[in-house]
Amino acid sequence: PAPGWAIDADVVVVGSGVAGLTAALRCAAAGRRTVVVTKARLDDGSTRWAQGGIAAALGDGDSPEQHLADTLVAGAGLCDEEAVRTLVTQGPDAVHRLIGAGARFDTAPGSDEIALGREGGHHRRRIAHAGGDATGAEVSRALVEAVRAAGLRTIENALVLDLLTDAQGRTSGVTLHVMGEGQHDGVGAVHAPAVVLATGGMGQVFSATTNPAVSTGDGVALALRAGAEVSDLEFVQFHPTVLYLGRDAEGQQPLISEAVRGEGAHLVDADGTRFMVGQHELAELAPRDIVAKAILRRAQEQGAEHMYLDGRHFGAEMWEHRFPTILAACRAHGIDPVTEPIPVAPAAHYASGGVRTDLYGRTTVPGLYACGEVACTGVHGANRLASNSLLEGLVFAERIADDIVAGPARRPGEPLLSDVPPVPLLPPEARFEIQRIMTAGAGVLRSRASLAEAYQALVRLTSKSAADSADGKAAEPGVEAWEATNLLLVARALVAGARSREETRGCHWREDHPERDDLNWRRHSVVTFRPPHT
Ligand code: SIN
Repeated sequence: PAPGWAIDADVVVVGSGVAGLTAALRCAAAGRRTVVVTKARLDDGSTRWAQGGIAAALGDGDSPEQHLADTLVAGAGLCDEEAVRTLVTQGPDAVHRLIGAGARFDTAPGSDEIALGREGGHHRRRIAHAGGDATGAEVSRALVEAVRAAGLRTIENALVLDLLTDAQGRTSGVTLHVMGEGQHDGVGAVHAPAVVLATGGMGQVFSATTNPAVSTGDGVALALRAGAEVSDLEFVQFHPTVLYLGRDAEGQQPLISEAVRGEGAHLVDADGTRFMVGQHELAELAPRDIVAKAILRRAQEQGAEHMYLDGRHFGAEMWEHRFPTILAACRAHGIDPVTEPIPVAPAAHYASGGVRTDLYGRTTVPGLYACGEVACTGVHGANRLASNSLLEGLVFAERIADDIVAGPARRPGEPLLSDVPPVPLLPPEARFEIQRIMTAGAGVLRSRASLAEAYQALVRLTSKSAADSADGKAAEPGVEAWEATNLLLVARALVAGARSREETRGCHWREDHPERDDLNWRRHSVVTFRPPHT
């Protein structure tokens, strides 16, 4: 749709989690006219839901080298080592700058030292946390307050639609659909020569996920439509311990942070037996893919749908002090972790792949940057190490801002509006069909046959929407219709990556190719749906 209004800026940041707000604050501090646009309210994205914390080599005896080693192991041979080195060496200072921006982390009793927790895949305590298990909420609070204090221009309730490019194929802004924000209502545009995608994840492509309802892969879908390269989408991380609310549970599910296992809670089966001991040297704290697989295997063996996380030995005081959010979520569902084990099962949690970038967050489309969960910087490889995501958002957002600020200030080229391809819109209810297709065919356990079925079903959905639109029965444009359309595009890209990777690696688990294939493997799957400008 043609924009009804337009504003000009030097930088438009799409998304308001840790990555987006960090990039925006740094660009603005350097004098760039910066606009933040976000799909719901400023604090509505995934950042606020993060529990465990931020991993960084902050403790005595720890070092970036050790953090690097743990990250590479979790990434199952697919991390870009230079990107990881950048992350772990710049991480500690970035955390201190976040503290300088107002974030308050928990400290050890009687001291000013940051208290450090432990999570899966980490060989030592390395996770800074806040409010016990409410780290993301504190990070979000601090950054939103900093954005308000700096007087940054923000547009909320703004779903990004498409990238605008000029005749040279360079970024010149974005189109948006805005709901009820006064002068910026309806479809409009922000013209800017630099666009930073920080739109978060795509967990809503599956039925059960820890992600909030807004995580519909909008940034990946925009990038695909713009011809940017998207990489490694098959590596969807399923968090091993999500509160099990029944087989038909849909939408966002309560996370039981890995930090609970980090403090010594045990995974037990239906008989109360610990089943991770002997499976991996780190037992319950093995990397996530290993724990998620072990839970599903044991559940299959016992004909059960979930396992249990037992933290009764913590006692009430520790639950209340260290894990108040989780305690409240469990009790809200009638489970008291102080007196009973928590039923848990894996659910979709994190997109390890995304829009492919270099070490400065630059995508393959000039002027388009990506950071945070929407990006594939190479730091996660085939499986993200716990609590590296907030850190990645911080570190790479700063690098993007520095790259934008170092570049010559330039006016955006005239956008070629006709360049945005027409997309047949899906009706909002298609979201649930996509989730069912993806959960059945491309979930935690995949095979050639299940992926082929998912592919066929997604193609049928695409053809139906094209036929409906040709018959004049196109869905009404609106946020939910665009979200469903984005989910379809993202699902197709994810299935394309998963079909092409005929091996099991990290969180991509192929029943028909159960081993890692170090001989015939391709390093990265790359999907583009449209060539960049010619
Ligand atoms: C958790 O608290 O277990 C989640 C942390 C993360 O996903 O990195």
